Amino acid sequence: MGRGRYLGHIISRNDRMSEIMQLVRKLSDHKTTVLILGESGTGKELIAKALHYCGGRKSAPFVAVNCGAIPASLLESELFGHVKGAFTDASHDKTGLFEEADGGTLFLDEIAEMPLPLQVKLLRVLQEEEIRRVGSATSHRVNVRVVSATSRNLGEEVAAGRFREDLYFRLNVFPISLPALRERVEDVPVLVDHFLEKHGERMGVAGVRPSPEALQALVRYRWPGNVRELENCIERGLVLCEAGVLGLTSLPESVRRGVGLERRCTDQPGSLSIKKGAEALERALIVRALEQTAGNRTHAAKLLEISHRALLYKLKEYALG
Ligand SMILES: Nc1ncnc2c1ncn2[C@@H]1O[C@H](COP(=O)(O)OP(=O)(O)OP(=O)(O)O)[C@@H](O)[C@H]1O
Ligand SMILES: [Mg+2]
Repeated sequence: MGRGRYLGHIISRNDRMSEIMQLVRKLSDHKTTVLILGESGTGKELIAKALHYCGGRKSAPFVAVNCGAIPASLLESELFGHVKGAFTDASHDKTGLFEEADGGTLFLDEIAEMPLPLQVKLLRVLQEEEIRRVGSATSHRVNVRVVSATSRNLGEEVAAGRFREDLYFRLNVFPISLPALRERVEDVPVLVDHFLEKHGERMGVAGVRPSPEALQALVRYRWPGNVRELENCIERGLVLCEAGVLGLTSLPESVRRGVGLERRCTDQPGSLSIKKGAEALERALIVRALEQTAGNRTHAAKLLEISHRALLYKLKEYALG
């Protein structure tokens, strides 16, 4: 898979995301440990895969392990393997994930969930580049690039004594912090198009377009589950859509609720506040400009006849970006 092609899986128009993609390109050919941070659903695994498939390790395995999903008692033998007789159930030798990923990348997802005793062992492996199977007296070299990820604040985990500081420093050589989707609202329209196409074809409903109101609601919603939640929302919407249009009624109630906000503001009984009305109007115009320009802020600022800087400021003020 070519460099560009893999990064092409990551859809974004956001400046911060472009910087991250450039960094991914640079880091992909190095063995440097990378720590990916970001709320749930922001694309951490996608970035981990891009780091692997864009670099020289792409023909070797990419092995992912969710440290939170494997019982603590099994995690050590999962990672490092074991020899026959190492413990009651060890009826034969087992290769660990570090060995499986030899020459490639091991993605340690939900790293904050790793039990403390295992953190000590992981640190040793990272420093010595050698693993020892559980129950074995000998160790051998592995050449594995480790990428880890967490949706937790690892600094806080360290402060609370749940994560070892030395391991934290070792993993945190290159942190990549993915912005939440609500901090890159310009990505919503392009991701909507992407997921409509991706799932539409698969579900036999190609060419579905969102109605203007639906797009407005999608742009305004805060997306606590980030891109994953948006993807699920579009998939669900494709089941409910009619006549090739993804309308408001195809969206979940939580997403729909945001629409009509400025109407409610200006219709407030008894309120003749020019200030409130002007703010509501301003917000509505910004949303409309972003829709018309598919989220391009530079372009939207031109339509709104304000500076790019002023637009960024207002996006923050109205919690739109
Ligand atoms: N920028 C993007 N472009 C296209 N698809 C994306 C993008 N970001 C995320 N996705 C898609 O959203 C889904 C969630 O992404 P991913 O699994 O990488 O997130 P995550 O941060 O690992 O989530 P979690 O914390 O829930 O494990 C995946 O289906 C992924 O392909
Ligand atoms: Mg993940």
